[in-house]
Order: sequence, then C-alpha cells, then structure tokens
Amino acid sequence: MKEFSTPAPVQWNRYLIDGVIHQWQGDFEQVHSPVLSDGDSTPVHLGQTPLLDSEAGLKALEAACNAYNNGRGAWPTAGADQRVAAMEHFLELMIEKREEVSTYLMWEIAKNRSAAFKEFDRTVEYIRDTIEEFKELQRRGSKIASKDGILSQVRRGPLGVVLCLGPYNYPLNETFCLLIPALMMGNTVIFKPAKYGVLLLTPLVEAFQKAFPPGVVNVLFGRGRTLAAPIMATGRIDVLALIGNSSSSNVLVAQHPKPNRLRQILGLEAKNPAIVFPDADMKQAVKQCASGALSYNGQRCTALKILYVHRSIADAFVEALSKEVDAMELGHPASDTPLTPLPEKNKVADMEAYVEDACQKGAQIMNKAAGRKSSTSFFPAVLYPVNDEMRIYHEEQFGPVVPVVPYDDLEEVMSSIARSDYGQQCSIFSQDASTVAYAVDNMVNQVCRVNINSSCQRGPDHLPFTGRKDSAVGTLSVHDALRSFSIRTLMAAEAGQKPLVRSILASGESHFLSTDYLL
Ligand code: G3H
Repeated sequence: MKEFSTPAPVQWNRYLIDGVIHQWQGDFEQVHSPVLSDGDSTPVHLGQTPLLDSEAGLKALEAACNAYNNGRGAWPTAGADQRVAAMEHFLELMIEKREEVSTYLMWEIAKNRSAAFKEFDRTVEYIRDTIEEFKELQRRGSKIASKDGILSQVRRGPLGVVLCLGPYNYPLNETFCLLIPALMMGNTVIFKPAKYGVLLLTPLVEAFQKAFPPGVVNVLFGRGRTLAAPIMATGRIDVLALIGNSSSSNVLVAQHPKPNRLRQILGLEAKNPAIVFPDADMKQAVKQCASGALSYNGQRCTALKILYVHRSIADAFVEALSKEVDAMELGHPASDTPLTPLPEKNKVADMEAYVEDACQKGAQIMNKAAGRKSSTSFFPAVLYPVNDEMRIYHEEQFGPVVPVVPYDDLEEVMSSIARSDYGQQCSIFSQDASTVAYAVDNMVNQVCRVNINSSCQRGPDHLPFTGRKDSAVGTLSVHDALRSFSIRTLMAAEAGQKPLVRSILASGESHFLSTDYLL
C-alpha cells in the first residue's frame, strides 16, 4: 500500500453531562484503525476514549430527565423558533469541523475518503432538511379548528428522554438521523457512540455544549453493557433509538421495567435479496449486484446479501460477477479504493468461516482474488452455488462475501424470502413489464422497498426507511423521523371559550396555543 501520513494520536478524555464538559480520570479504551502501519502490519494507533462507568451514565440520565422535567423543561416547552435557532447554531459549528470529523471517520472505520466526506455532507443536508420539515410541521399546526362546537389546536409534542445508540458503519449519519429529529421535536437525549467510530464524534462535543441548553444533549463514551443497561433498568427512558441488531435492542428493552412506556425506533439487521430474472440486462444486473453487495465492503444494512439468479443464466452471471468483483481494488481508505480494511475485530476470520462452511456444503469460490490479504483485509468471495444448508444463506454476513443461489421457479425464491427473519428491501432485475409488475406486487408486502434494476439503498433521505420482521421498528426519513420522535397532543375548548382563546392568542404568551406562522 502507498504510504499516507497517519494522524497524531488523540488522548480524548472528555464527556458532556448537563452542559458541562467533564474530564475522565478512570479507564480508557485504546482506539486503533483497521489500517495497518506500513512495514510492521500493526494497526495504526489513533488515540484513546474514556470508558465511563455506570455512575457517569446515571448522571447523564439525571441531567436529561431534569432538562425534560416531565415535559415542562425549557427545551420541550421552547417555541419552535428557539429550537430552530439552536439547531442552526449547532449546524454552523458542525460545518467548521468537516475536515476533522471526516478524516477521523476515514481512519477509524476505513471508509474511503470520498465516502467519508460524503457521509458528513449528507448529514449536514439531512439537518438542513429536518429544520425545514420541522418549520412546515409547525406551520401546519398553527391553526385553530372549530368542529362540533369544539375549538381545537393539534400539534406534535416530544416523548421524553431518548437513549440514542448509533452504528459503526454510518457513525455520523445514522446516529444523527436519530439524534437530530429527536432534539428538534423537544426531547432530551443521552447519546453514546458505537464500539468503532468514536473519535470522529469528539470534535462535535463542544458544538453540542454551545448550541443546546444544559442537559438537552449528554454525550457518553464507553461500553453499552456498562452504560446503557443500568440506564434502561431505571425505567426513565421514554425512547430507545438504536441502529444495530435485534439481539442488542432486545436485551435493552428487556431491562426496562415498563416496556409498554418505551417507544422503540430501531434500524436492525437485514438480508436484502436480489432476484435476477432470465431476461435481465446482464451487464446492468452484474454492476448493480457487485456494487450493491460490496460498497463499503458490504458493511451496510442495505447491502445486497443474497443473490437469487435464474438457473438458465446463472453460470454466465457468476462469471461476469466474478470478473467485476476481481476488478475492484482493495487499498488504503485515503487512496479512495472501493474496498478497504474491516474495522470489526475477527471480521476476516468470520468471513473465512462463512466461506469454509459454504465450501464444505458444496459451494465454490468463483473469483480468483478472494480471501485474506492481511489481519484486517479480506478480498470479497463470490460463492456459488449456495443453498439453504449453508450459514451464508440465512445469516447477515455484513461483510465481503457474495452468495449466489440458482433458482428454477420464482416460488422457491418467494417462499424463501417469506421464511426469512428479515424484511428491509429487495432488488429485482428484469426488462419485462409483466415480470416486474408481478414481482413488485409480490414483494412489497414482504419488504419495505422494492428496487427495480438497481441495488438497495436508504437514500434519498426524504424516502421512508423501514423494515418488517427483525429489520426495523418505526420509520425514518426527514419527514417520518419527526413523527417517530413525537406524539400528537392538542388543546380543546368549547365554543364558549372563544374570547379566552382569542386573548391567549393575542397575548402571545403560549408557545403551543399560537397561530404564529413560522417563517
Ligand atoms: O447501514 C445501513 C444504512 O442505512 C445504509 O444506507 O443505503 O445509504 O448506504 P445507504
């Protein structure tokens, strides 16, 4: 690999509780990049982050509860214009950190350079769009209705205290797609980054402190088991917002003494299938399946994780796919290659285990370059023919292994998808209108997005992002996330109260009972 100057290690020792940036004196986690240093193949040391204890976690909870104050705190009762001003202030401070955040993002999780900057820019855009959507929501609520002798004003109000846990693969974007709408709607938040992708959030801690009132955003660093579990056990969390997997969310939900009070907003695991029909445009299908399966090394919940290809074209498809995959370059994230090292511990061994299991049960590795390249790099393996006895057929690999399953009858594919525990998206490849029409009608109720002749993806962010079965709870998009993090709440009065209501409106004393049009 070409040499790239490594960043100086950061000894990060701070965390934010109740508007105060504290300094941690206890244990620390060493942060290493999946990128290996030139010459000695040891992971580049990036610095350290605090391993806060449960006491710090509970202090953050106390601060968030106090700031919410049962919905009576300054933030949940603030006027929409005040919340917009705070969010705009945060955005301004965040933009100043673009280079720093994107560079850490690249080094910590080995996302290639342009994808790291894209993640930052997409998040900035998401915040801007959220502010506009929030204003629109306020405008729609700025009216008094009169029906059946009742005056009413209906708006959306906050839910309470949110525990927000993001994923390592989109440590900025996906986390902020939860955090920002939660804050915008007047909730208070305790936020802890995932196991990997932590340092990149440190340049933003001060921005949170400066832009939001004390206790509204509390930022913790450490292990989920130590911090999140005791917080949940208090029963004081109103919303669990998590992008990760259902085994973690189930454990956390089970800690809550009154799960009926807990709203869950979860983006979870997926096994998005592609179905390649005999009349597919082969070139297009191969390109889309390769990039859909392997962008960011397949570490995306929306990645194509199993390819069903009609037997009549399967050999030709696999040959073309193998060439397409072997032409991809694996390198240093700074050199912008599409494939990069893998941040998760033991990930290379996990990929090898999938390949070994499939090969023992009759599959072959179809491409030449497949396999381990270093302790953190694995060149993608195209496996064929894959069947339902293999682990890779059922499990979410979340990495660079591409299983191809030949099929004879579409019903086999449909029933396999119906039996699967996942239901996020799928891709269908065909040029024929009635084939596509049939597949769309049969797939829309199995998954939540059917992509025609293209790979799966979350964006653009105005589209609803959700899933069935074990793939999600709740819906996210710029518009839907504001709904997910809020509840409808209203004022009602009999017609006789008109003079009183009129005088409240005229006085401008209430933020809720107001017809002010937010410009
Ligand atoms: O990991 C799941 C992400 O939401 C995927 O988003 O489709 O934009 O890569 P993406």
